[in-house]
Amino acid sequence: MSLIELKNIEFTYRGATNQALKDISLTIEPGEFVGIIGPTGAGKSTLCWVISGVIPQIIQGKLAGTSTVKGLSTRKTPVAEISQIIGLVQQDAEAQLLMTDIEKEIAFPLENLRLPPEEIAKRLNYVLDLVNLGSERLRHPFYLSGGQKQRVAVAAALAMEPEILILDEATSELDPIGAEEVHNLARSLKNQGKTIIMVEHNIDELAKVADRIVVMDQGNVLMDAPIRDALSNVDFLQNLGIYPPQVSQTAYALKKMGMSIDHMPITIEEGLKIFTEFKQHA
Ligand SMILES: Nc1ncnc2c1ncn2[C@@H]1O[C@H](COP(=O)(O)OP(=O)(O)OP(=O)(O)O)[C@@H](O)[C@H]1O
Ligand SMILES: [Mg+2]
Repeated sequence: MSLIELKNIEFTYRGATNQALKDISLTIEPGEFVGIIGPTGAGKSTLCWVISGVIPQIIQGKLAGTSTVKGLSTRKTPVAEISQIIGLVQQDAEAQLLMTDIEKEIAFPLENLRLPPEEIAKRLNYVLDLVNLGSERLRHPFYLSGGQKQRVAVAAALAMEPEILILDEATSELDPIGAEEVHNLARSLKNQGKTIIMVEHNIDELAKVADRIVVMDQGNVLMDAPIRDALSNVDFLQNLGIYPPQVSQTAYALKKMGMSIDHMPITIEEGLKIFTEFKQHA
């Protein structure tokens, strides 16, 4: 059994005529870092909600197929219980913040779990440290920058000690520095063994962190492949309006011109290595 299993998932929002998800099957194994990419309306957020039980438990509509996490049905297992396995940071993280200070924001769900106060204090300190917000802990979320709010949402999700973290465009509203902070955090969580699902428009960033990439469009999964294989399909991605890293595009163009490139570069470092070798051979 895989950590996450979706089988023949179809979903139509209540009142909608089009299916938001069309016959999606996919599995995710422990420790994987899976990037999800695709144009607006592709169904990326909808997929995240199915995986975490928000659909159909909170957002309603017509759901077909099966969805499990650690063997538990995400239709039937209460979302509060699933949130101890899956931390979800939503696209609109700001809307997720409800409390009057950061500490309460993070501690409230832990209090609902009836954890002992010492345990809550321990987790609070740990996650605030992790997202670098220890000094802001008593501030109202209103006064935080976009990046800080995003990190509060990440901290609140992590305080539940989930094995899986889903980041739905957690960096789209951030400046480059804020985005980098969230990416670095995601990477260090992966190194700690967490399973990460990251919906991200910036494919250059995904190329740096993801093991595997799922490409969606109009409710379908069009491609599900290791990152390097996925990014080698330059024409396919460009037709969807997804532009692979420039270093991959350059390598692809050189390959089309007849140069032999066996190992598609996906980061600047890899590109430098390959192009330097060319120079040496020239
Ligand atoms: N609450 C809702 N009610 C009705 N239809 C919805 C709702 N949320 C999304 N949809 C529709 O479902 C489809 C998939 O939307 P979804 O938000 O999952 O796409 P997405 O890939 O996350 O897009 P984006 O990149 O813009 O976040 C779209 O056609 C969208 O209009
Ligand atoms: Mg979305």
